[in-house]
Amino acid sequence: MAFLSDTLARVKPSPTIAVSNLAAELKAAGKDVIGLGAGEPDFDTPEHIKAAGIAAIEAGKTKYTAVDGIAELKAAICAKFKRDNGLDYEPAQVSVGTGGKQILYNALMATLNPGDEVLIPAPYWVSYPDMVLLAGGTPVTVAATLENAFKITPEQLEAAITPKTKWFIFNSPSNPTGAGYTWDELKALTEVLMRHPHVWVMTDDMYEHLAYDDFEFCTPAQVEPGLYDRTLTCNGVSKAYAMTGWRIGYAAGPKELIAAMRKIQSQSTSNPCSISQWAAVEALNGPHDFIAENNAAFKRRRDLVVSMLSEIDGVTCPTPEGAFYVYPSIAGLIGKTSAAGTKIENDEIFAKALLEEKGVAVVFGAAFGLSPCFRVSYATSDAALKEACTRIQDFCAALT
Ligand SMILES: Cc1ncc(COP(=O)(O)O)c(C=O)c1O
Repeated sequence: MAFLSDTLARVKPSPTIAVSNLAAELKAAGKDVIGLGAGEPDFDTPEHIKAAGIAAIEAGKTKYTAVDGIAELKAAICAKFKRDNGLDYEPAQVSVGTGGKQILYNALMATLNPGDEVLIPAPYWVSYPDMVLLAGGTPVTVAATLENAFKITPEQLEAAITPKTKWFIFNSPSNPTGAGYTWDELKALTEVLMRHPHVWVMTDDMYEHLAYDDFEFCTPAQVEPGLYDRTLTCNGVSKAYAMTGWRIGYAAGPKELIAAMRKIQSQSTSNPCSISQWAAVEALNGPHDFIAENNAAFKRRRDLVVSMLSEIDGVTCPTPEGAFYVYPSIAGLIGKTSAAGTKIENDEIFAKALLEEKGVAVVFGAAFGLSPCFRVSYATSDAALKEACTRIQDFCAALT
């Protein structure tokens, strides 16, 4: 359609949102569907955070705010970075946006020119390449492998850097694999980055608090202070605080970059929701014990899903360090035919057949840039997970 922009033609809608919508539609039509597609906790926002939102409404904190966040939230964010990551930031180095997504988008819009390359390890969160394209840059993927636990190596990073590289996007624990880089693994990547001073680091730490067993989260500017002046450390309250709908994300980095991001935001959304900002102040400053309780449930569910999927012939399911996803490979199933007669030629066909024949919604690996795999979000009840994994087992057992 000639009316639409050329930019729009470069991007595709979010496949994860599409899967969630399809599952919801099928459910609404009376089908027995278990959705393992959505990237959001099934837990409710904790009461003390909700209460802070309600108090903000009642106190009339319902007006426009400063473009990139109220002073109280910026102070809470600075305290969080110090407390959790040992990073010193001042309020002028902090930007608050409408979700982590807007923060990343603002940063890319504020910095990319045509021809600029952005390095993205694959499998990646679906929005990175499309946001880079929307901002006029060129996404360059660096393919991690199942054999290397879905983590890229320093050699791969080194080989991917060119004079046009502007950003390296880093996400650990990862969506979609749950893979988390240890301090030493991240240190090895930062050593490469130290040799290339023109490359900036956009670290998406959204799953920082969702880590299991003895995995210890770390972030690039903490591991290599030499990167501090060219790192944008991004985070948000959506996942760990079960606040996806409140839409608050934030980042800290060099003041000039933060000011540029503010300019973009001032001409798009003006400011994040005032009420949500007050709730986020409480989230960051208030009690955090619910995170450990939620994580105990997430870990139990992760172990359940990994063990049930690992029993399937032809499926390999690594145990991830964090987030609430597993990313099994179905390399051993490609070429087989389902009970209803569908030839499983790739992971997209696998996911569609699984939904149609067994009512289980997962997201196919091609959406995240690494096939043949699929992503399971285990942020749902143990009972639903057990039933879904049994159905996946049955579906795979019937393949011939
Ligand atoms: C890796 C990653 N980054 C950022 C986001 C965006 O978070 P928000 O809901 O705060 O925009 C998500 C959400 O799925 C994510 O998985």
